[in-house]
Amino acid sequence: MALKNPAQIDQMRPAGTFVAGVLSSLRDVARVGMTLNDLDAHAHRMIDAAGAHSVYLGYHPSFGAIPYPGVLCTSVNDAALHGLPSDRVLQDGDVLSVDFAAKVQGWVADSAITFQVGSTTPEAQALIAATEQALAAGIAAAVPGGRMGDVSAAIGAVGRGAGYGINADFGGHGVGRTMHEDPHVANLGKPGTGLKLKAGLVIAIEPWFMAGGDDYVIDDDGWTIRTADGSLAAHAEHTVAITKDGPLVLTARD
Ligand code: MF3
Ligand code: CO
Repeated sequence: MALKNPAQIDQMRPAGTFVAGVLSSLRDVARVGMTLNDLDAHAHRMIDAAGAHSVYLGYHPSFGAIPYPGVLCTSVNDAALHGLPSDRVLQDGDVLSVDFAAKVQGWVADSAITFQVGSTTPEAQALIAATEQALAAGIAAAVPGGRMGDVSAAIGAVGRGAGYGINADFGGHGVGRTMHEDPHVANLGKPGTGLKLKAGLVIAIEPWFMAGGDDYVIDDDGWTIRTADGSLAAHAEHTVAITKDGPLVLTARD
């Protein structure tokens, strides 16, 4: 796997700042009555205005029934990951996960947030908070000399501690010139095991938890990952550079 030198990590900052800004803007504009396509169009305009490039649009891994049709993943309520933008109209209280990655000046950043549209509910806010706490715990473990299993275990401990469903089939990944690089960053694991973490490793850490059980189902589109029991899901993601001074969150929002 490719380690980045400090100059290259600096070169990744504009991508991280851009991705963070798009997610903040989407959270600001999202309203009851808007469609998922409206949000996708908003992000697409920001990409064009910045001279950035989508790494989602047209992406077609073998599992997708169609090439990816948008610049965002928009996963609502029981959808956890890879929800396709559509004419679905946002309803009051919807739990919306927005996942966004883009390339700026030759480098990719990848980040996700989950929030409720309109009214909030304690159940959803607790799930979202646990996902964010797990992300923070995973980031804190992303230090030189640690192991990947420390990151995975830190994430899993927060989710299990809160009683949420976790499925380790999908998780984080290396990020660099492309969106998905080695290594895999699992959302469950054992401390002290796995890859030795080194300065220069840049990874997307992305816990996603389910309010119910550990199982998921995939829609006929091949993309949308949903909770098998119809319970809510939430997802949070940052692109993080491991540096000699500790973790640097490239996609930090203000
Ligand atoms: N950004 C997602 C991830 O965190 C992947 C999105 S798949 C795409 O790994 F098709 F939408 F691009
Ligand atoms: Co990712």
